[in-house]
Amino acid sequence: MYEMGNQEVKAIKKIISKRKLFRYLENSECDLFEKNYSKYLSIKHSALASSGTAALTAALVGLKIGPGDEVIIPAHTYMATAMSVLSVGAIPIIVDIDESLTIDPKALEDSCGPLTKAVIVVHMWGTTCNMNAIMKIARKKKLFVIEDACQSVGGGYEKKMLGTIGHVGAFSFNYYKNMTSGEGGAVVSNNKEIIERAKCAIDPCHFYWQGRKNSLKPFASNGSRASEFMGALLNIQLKRLPRMIKSMRAERNKILNSTKNLSNMGISHSLLNSKDYDCGNYVFLKFNNTLDAKKFTSIFPAPIAGKTGRHNYTEWDQILLKEGSFHQSLNPYKLPQNKKCRMNYDKNMCKSSLEILNKTIMIPTDPKNTKKDTDNTIRNIKRAALAYINKENIKIKQKAIDKGKFDYSED
Ligand SMILES: Cc1ncc(COP(=O)(O)O)c(C=O)c1O
Repeated sequence: MYEMGNQEVKAIKKIISKRKLFRYLENSECDLFEKNYSKYLSIKHSALASSGTAALTAALVGLKIGPGDEVIIPAHTYMATAMSVLSVGAIPIIVDIDESLTIDPKALEDSCGPLTKAVIVVHMWGTTCNMNAIMKIARKKKLFVIEDACQSVGGGYEKKMLGTIGHVGAFSFNYYKNMTSGEGGAVVSNNKEIIERAKCAIDPCHFYWQGRKNSLKPFASNGSRASEFMGALLNIQLKRLPRMIKSMRAERNKILNSTKNLSNMGISHSLLNSKDYDCGNYVFLKFNNTLDAKKFTSIFPAPIAGKTGRHNYTEWDQILLKEGSFHQSLNPYKLPQNKKCRMNYDKNMCKSSLEILNKTIMIPTDPKNTKKDTDNTIRNIKRAALAYINKENIKIKQKAIDKGKFDYSED
């Protein structure tokens, strides 16, 4: 959930009036954003890209992942996480999530094989993965850790910013994210070589504008360069981000504190790995089973995590059909280098994840919500819980989040 207003309008007008829409000209907004974002995250390097998918792909290129490598990913993530692995010629291995809706560290450890080179851990829905456990396993198994923080821009784990704990982090700034430029993404790392390679993946011609480092041998790649419109919007959006995250987290924690006592009605809270530092985009309510979650949502309007379409592996057609590329000669599932990689997928392979997802409902927070709005949500949840226990046939009206409504009143 982002906010937008007059400052963004002014920033875009400025770019148009200067007629400098390309990022490699002087006083670049993209350069400024990369500098500011690195500072915000306390990381050495950031590189903008045209999307989160491009950023994830660039992160894998940065780590030299390719044919012959397996990359572990969770059963619950937007399908782009899986697609990025295939786009570099490697094979995704899909493993279970745990009650936090993020990758289960035990499933990660158990699924490591001799060809496993990396794991993409995904901080879903504004929450965080169990990074302490993950980094411990990664050290033991010698895995690279890529943090997909596309859905958790601005969040942290303990005292570190998401995206900065593993070897490389990737972010999305698309329309649905905490900060947006319509489309957009970024790769971040403390490792210069990873970022140099990622930059070449993002723009194979960037040397022409920025000069080639002798350490890097150039290679062919698709372009996914950011524009100055993106940079200009993101420079404003970044200033809004800390306040928004703080406000969503506070709203989420208030709702959690006020609904603690519902466990005797069979409604509990999902596990949060870093409650004081994550983004707080959602309150997750966990039911005893799928049917109970469904019954509750017929009273209180909220999505069930297991019914969020392409966020679940059962909907990733390209993987299930093993259509890993636009051309069969490039299809990772057919490459001789991948012959020894594991690639048996079926819709029942992560049953435990589906069970968890189908009994979890998601109630969004909003930085624009007032105290009255939050109190209403709490009252509505409690009212719905009573109705659900007493089998009353009512429908609660909950304030909808209006993503299309921009706020021009702030400046
Ligand atoms: C977890 C996750 N990874 C990757 C992406 C890809 O980002 P984009 O849509 O900017 O390509 C998304 C976007 O929704 C996402 O939610």
